[in-house]
Amino acid sequence: MDGENILKLNPSPELTVLQTELGSWDNLNHLLICNTTRTAILIDPFDGQFWSNIVEKEDIKAVTIVLTHSHWDHTRGVVEFLNLNPNTEIYVHQLESERGWKGPDTYQWSHPPFTFVSLNFGDLNFEVHCTPGHTPGHITLIGHGVVISGDCLFLGRCGRTDLYGGDMYSMWESQMHLHLRLQKLPGNWIVLPGHRYPLNDENNPTYLSLEYLLKNNPAIKKQSFDEFSKLEFLQFDDSLSEKAKRQKARSE
Ligand SMILES: [Fe+2]
Repeated sequence: MDGENILKLNPSPELTVLQTELGSWDNLNHLLICNTTRTAILIDPFDGQFWSNIVEKEDIKAVTIVLTHSHWDHTRGVVEFLNLNPNTEIYVHQLESERGWKGPDTYQWSHPPFTFVSLNFGDLNFEVHCTPGHTPGHITLIGHGVVISGDCLFLGRCGRTDLYGGDMYSMWESQMHLHLRLQKLPGNWIVLPGHRYPLNDENNPTYLSLEYLLKNNPAIKKQSFDEFSKLEFLQFDDSLSEKAKRQKARSE
């Protein structure tokens, strides 16, 4: 996908979200715009030039990049965007250094897993939850009608846990942590993930309501770790899995 289609969403009166799919790994990218101040958060930019053009067209005054995690397909556009927009702030969790992240960033969160801190921008305020398992310092953003879930929580499953720095038990704890938080939010809030995979009913949406997701996503349904660990989408046997095993062996 090449960002041809940009979806404009208004999950709350104060927030506009632009969503598009970019790159050969079909990354979903999001721009969260504060409607009153015209400042924005850019999540996981895959293409710096693409987003720089959008930011100019939308007359955005200032951009903060937030990285849900540091995998290459979520950070690929950061340097290019920074070169085109040198005053951009870049936020990431410091635990991403455990999997080799060396920047660039301008601010590192340091709160422990399964806790959250606040992120203010413009007139908006988001909860930044540390939700490891896919990577050590993965974060999930919650506020103003949206859940930005990166590669922690997809619409019909969760992210893989076998890559370098991943951990299945932590992912289970993250799902339980998110379940507790998300079930207290209005059911019409939407979840915006970092990729999409077809649901069991073969639909392949780019976002879902919380109400639907909490009823149907097997990863986040209340369950034991034993049940969780047997979920079919958490079994891996591909070249990425092999590479991660070699990386782990080298670091021990
Ligand atoms: Fe990832």
